[in-house]
Amino acid sequence: MSRPYRFALIGCGFFAQNHLQAWAQMPEVELVATCDVNYESALAAADRFGGTPYTDAAELFAREELDFVDIATTPPTHRMMVELAAEHGVAAICQKPLAWDMKDAQAMVAAMAEKDLPFMVHENFRFQYPMRKVKEVIDSGAIGRPFFGRISFRTAHDVYSAQPWCMDAERMIIADVSVHQFDLTRFFLGEPERLFTDAIRVNPKIKGEDVATIVLHLPGATCIVDTSYESKSDHNTYPQTFVTIEGTEGTVTLGPDYRLQVVSPEGVREETLVIPEHPWTSEPWNCIQDSVVNVQRHWVECLTNKTTPETSGADTLRVLDLTLGAYQSLETGEPYRAGSLL
Ligand SMILES: NC(=O)c1ccc[n+]([C@@H]2O[C@H](COP(=O)([O-])OP(=O)(O)OC[C@H]3O[C@@H](n4cnc5c(N)ncnc54)[C@H](O)[C@@H]3O)[C@@H](O)[C@H]2O)c1
Repeated sequence: MSRPYRFALIGCGFFAQNHLQAWAQMPEVELVATCDVNYESALAAADRFGGTPYTDAAELFAREELDFVDIATTPPTHRMMVELAAEHGVAAICQKPLAWDMKDAQAMVAAMAEKDLPFMVHENFRFQYPMRKVKEVIDSGAIGRPFFGRISFRTAHDVYSAQPWCMDAERMIIADVSVHQFDLTRFFLGEPERLFTDAIRVNPKIKGEDVATIVLHLPGATCIVDTSYESKSDHNTYPQTFVTIEGTEGTVTLGPDYRLQVVSPEGVREETLVIPEHPWTSEPWNCIQDSVVNVQRHWVECLTNKTTPETSGADTLRVLDLTLGAYQSLETGEPYRAGSLL
């Protein structure tokens, strides 16, 4: 690479701070602009991490020479941002969920494909260090053929103070968190064929659902995805995700505090995984923060090697199909056949 990739970060809110920190430790990229409708946010990011602050994405694209944009706004603006990127011939990485409906997501994927532009979704859970370890165990064959999974994210952490928009979202925890667990289901077990959802709202102050359980059927396997923002516990494990994968020869379990256990014909192996540290990461966020570094490294590797990202826009349509299908199942009370919305 002769010079760093020139990029702009659009949407300088809560989660974008992790993006900014992670980009800042990568010599392969150069932040040339920040953009937020809230000028103070764009300016604060530019002051700290570099680049010219903008409040209007159209103006940013018109003025700056960019290799890619990192879109960290909330979902209603994702399509507009990706279409602007396509129009200007700029590669894009966009936060999840890709969109609120399939039509928008497909339009985004088509716009980028038409110009042959790299397009990745910032789907970071599969890039968490412990998830890579679980996948290594499955791929090693140690537990045989997987036939059951449980992917669990339960907390009573107050997510609303940092992300007040979650209080007003008509569709909440499935679109916010189960979406990651659907991607993990695919990562560990393959493509689901159908799913059934049960979900409720426990917190009366919010609009959407905050407790959800989804049963997914895959060829020869079942997976339970359970997600809650209302689960009180004597041991706070936010923001950890727990995983159990049972196979014909054994079981791999990722439990609280990154405890990994592998039961196989070889015996029982246990270890506490140590999350890689960075100068800006801290507990309890470190695993998520480190996954942002891994996502962004993967993106740069794909740009450099001209390979398709694991969580490309096109691939992520399947995650969105499961997410929208989960709501459809909730609304109809019927199972959803995966792929019906594609
Ligand atoms: N992957 C993860 O682990 C994770 C965690 C949290 C949030 N997220 C995702 O990140 C995205 C942002 O969430 P957040 O909680 O940081 O939201 P946020 O509201 O804190 O930040 C969004 C920012 O975008 C700005 N913005 C909105 N419209 C804009 C526009 N038209 N042009 C420029 N800026 C605009 C807002 O002013 C705000 O500063 C969401 O898609 C969310 O799902 C992902």
